[in-house]
Amino acid sequence: MSAPTLDVPATPPPLGAPIVEVVDLFKDYYMGDVTVNVLKGINLSFQEGDFVALMGPSGSGKSTLMNILGCLDRPTSGQYYLKDKDVSHMTDDQLSEVRSSYLGFIFQAYNLLPQYTVTENIELPLVYQGVRLDERTAARCEALAGLVGLGDRMDHRPLQLSGGQQQRVAIARALVNDPQVLLADEPTGNLDSRTSDEIMHMLSELNRTGKTIIMVTHENDIAAWARRVIRLRDGRVESDERNAHPHGYRAG
Ligand SMILES: Nc1ncnc2c1ncn2[C@@H]1O[C@H](COP(=O)(O)OP(=O)(O)OP(=O)(O)O)[C@@H](O)[C@H]1O
Ligand SMILES: [Mg+2]
Repeated sequence: MSAPTLDVPATPPPLGAPIVEVVDLFKDYYMGDVTVNVLKGINLSFQEGDFVALMGPSGSGKSTLMNILGCLDRPTSGQYYLKDKDVSHMTDDQLSEVRSSYLGFIFQAYNLLPQYTVTENIELPLVYQGVRLDERTAARCEALAGLVGLGDRMDHRPLQLSGGQQQRVAIARALVNDPQVLLADEPTGNLDSRTSDEIMHMLSELNRTGKTIIMVTHENDIAAWARRVIRLRDGRVESDERNAHPHGYRAG
């Protein structure tokens, strides 16, 4: 029997109120004369503090749904409520405001700016938000770089870092605005299994401290870290199950 560790709760913290809700969500793409129905009536509610894995075959609409949840795209019809805001009918400016104050993004390809240092990449969402960079923001970036284990790499540029390190910079960048919801589209898709594990440990720890996470993955091993697993098939929810023993928590 292994000794219990003190910092890992045996069971996940309780879930809060719904924070992200979509109702009757449809998304069509128009290609010339052809209409492609990608999302065909999605109804989902995500609670505060949850850690959700979104799975399903290639082309089932996972990224399309994530882009809508991330306010990077709009549904063709249906409602999207983020906390108490109806996001479905917002203007571009309102959407970008919602994006920068409520949401953090992690992508499969890291999406760091190669010419910028680690510090500058982490600061970027603040710059987009029009926040003035000062000692306070510098201290926040330094703390976040430390949190993801890159406190000694702050002046490095992305190409001087490994894939796992680049993804950790992306996690720090996603956290700089203290977002309510972290959206991750295949965050370990480009990483080997050991590095994927490191990244999942980090996401699990963030969830443990209360961060709501919605993550797309193709891999059962990665989905096993989540508290809820939703499968899409052909633009619809095929299954939606709770994971009684998410990886990263001791079996209760
Ligand atoms: N901008 C677009 N214009 C036209 N069709 C699109 C567009 N984006 C996505 N699609 C189509 O929508 C469907 C769903 O795409 P989506 O990227 O959401 O799938 P996915 O589940 O994320 O797949 P994967 O696992 O391969 O990433 C696909 O058939 C795709 O071809
Ligand atoms: Mg995708």
